[in-house]
Amino acid sequence: MDPVVVLVLSLSCLLLISLWRQSSGRKKLPPGPTSLPIIGNFLQIDVKNISQSLTKLSKSYGPVFTLYLGSQPTVVLHGYEAVKEALIDHGDEFSGRGHFPLAERIIKGRGIVFSNGSIWKETRRFTLMTLRNLGMGKRNIEDRVQEEAQCLVEELRKTNGSPCDPTFILGCAPCNVICSIIFQNRFDYNDKDFLTLMEKVNENVRILSSPWLQVCGNFPLLLDYCPGSHHKVAKNVDYLKSYLQEKIKDHQESLDVSNPRDFIDYYLIKQKQANHNQQLEFTPENLAATVNDLFGAGTETTSTTLRYALLLLLKNPHVTAKVQEEIDHVVGRHRSPCMQDRSHMPYTDAMIHEVQRFIDLLPTSLPHAVTCDMKFRNYLIPKGTTVITSLSSVLHDSKEFPNPEMFDPGHFLDENGNFKKSDYFMPFSTGKRICAGEGLARMELFLFLTTILQNFKLKSLIHPKNIDMTPVANGFVSIPPPYQLCFIPF
Ligand code: HEM
Ligand SMILES: *[C@@H]1O[C@H](CO)[C@@H](O)[C@H](O)[C@H]1NC(C)=O
Ligand SMILES: *[C@@H]1O[C@H](CO)[C@@H](O)[C@H](O)[C@H]1NC(C)=O
Repeated sequence: MDPVVVLVLSLSCLLLISLWRQSSGRKKLPPGPTSLPIIGNFLQIDVKNISQSLTKLSKSYGPVFTLYLGSQPTVVLHGYEAVKEALIDHGDEFSGRGHFPLAERIIKGRGIVFSNGSIWKETRRFTLMTLRNLGMGKRNIEDRVQEEAQCLVEELRKTNGSPCDPTFILGCAPCNVICSIIFQNRFDYNDKDFLTLMEKVNENVRILSSPWLQVCGNFPLLLDYCPGSHHKVAKNVDYLKSYLQEKIKDHQESLDVSNPRDFIDYYLIKQKQANHNQQLEFTPENLAATVNDLFGAGTETTSTTLRYALLLLLKNPHVTAKVQEEIDHVVGRHRSPCMQDRSHMPYTDAMIHEVQRFIDLLPTSLPHAVTCDMKFRNYLIPKGTTVITSLSSVLHDSKEFPNPEMFDPGHFLDENGNFKKSDYFMPFSTGKRICAGEGLARMELFLFLTTILQNFKLKSLIHPKNIDMTPVANGFVSIPPPYQLCFIPF
């Protein structure tokens, strides 16, 4: 037979099989667009603007719909009601983590971000408890963030008011906070170990959040051909592991069980007490995976938010002026801002919430999975199905936030200028998988931004009217366009 005929015949067969499978499986899964064999609905998704593609699809298929990314179904939750009903009302069932082939190969189910089941539960519980304990200690987390805020300001002062791109310096500070929590001490911004560490962390985040990797991830055969990513990520994790091993040795020698100094100390203490009923073993591999997650989840997220915040403040000088007035009034110039100040600074608090709402840092959060066969709104979602939540659809809800595409701290203020909470404020997601670093991230955003604004006037190189706010990539992370500014000391 003519090879072309064979090809056409087998393609039509595939198409028929896939249509048949869809129509039989579809009866139970939520509705969605017809998908092609092998590639599924990829052609209906703009990888550069996933969130917008989902919004378009929800207009045709409703708040809960099914997409095929490759041959596997993915359920999408769009809008506050659907997200809340799944992640809060059915928290346990929706608490699985979606499939991440690359991470699974390298991390092997350890840590928090890419783990599941009892390993996830125990690692997450240990991490939250340790962050809480360190928050109350003698040299608590607030002290560490304040110390970092002062170093950040000193570093910005060295620019002498000349134009600079703030990306590097704003990247150092959140990374150093994690270092301080894990290793006890911060590093100098030009320390060689620190720079290498930050480079490896950033590279892994870049690879793991690239839309191409997601595409490859749905076609496991391709994974090995995705441009070098597998080796790079594995090498970077190995580097972190060997660096940690050195630190663990130092910590073991100086450990005082009654006076833990940092995350590693708590891990070593837990290791001594571990009982054998626990699934989780406190091994160096598990510590490395967890520390890797804290760096990966806690560095770029926070620094990108800071960088976007400064751009929004340049674009909206009237907002900056009001925040600076509040800082002058509540903190003054002679002491560092502290967390207690926040409750007296409703405008500043509203501005930071508005930054996080407006920039919509992780438009589709991280993928979840259902942990069992799940009946949801008369649909049946089989165990293990990937679930994507559109955080954008909640953060940009036009009923809760009139003119959602406008940056306006008024979205979080009542008529008397008091801070107004909103259940729709979900930049950290919600439910059982809610960001494990939420408290830390909010502390960093408040202390870093107020300390910067207490010390500098921000000067744009172009007229605010001409500042472009459009994110450069809106796939998995919203990144602000590159820009420069001057930090003019007061
Ligand atoms: C502005 C900064 C941050 C934002 C916007 C943010 C946002 C998020 C989001 C949306 C998730 C996914 C939640 C889900 O799966 O439903 C997440 C997970 C996570 N974040 Fe953050 N995050 C930030 C900073 C941090 C920091 C500073 C840390 C460090 C302690 C951190 C640690 C984590 C961890 C460990 C997870 C995984 C939780 C789990 O799977 O159980 N994050 N974050
Ligand atoms: C988590 O568990 C679900 C099934 O409960 C599975 O489909 C998914 O691949 C797992 N995720 C990871 C990252 O191992
Ligand atoms: C994505 O689409 C929205 C809505 O049309 C638009 O406002 C946004 O700028 C787009 N993002 C990118 C990166 O093109």
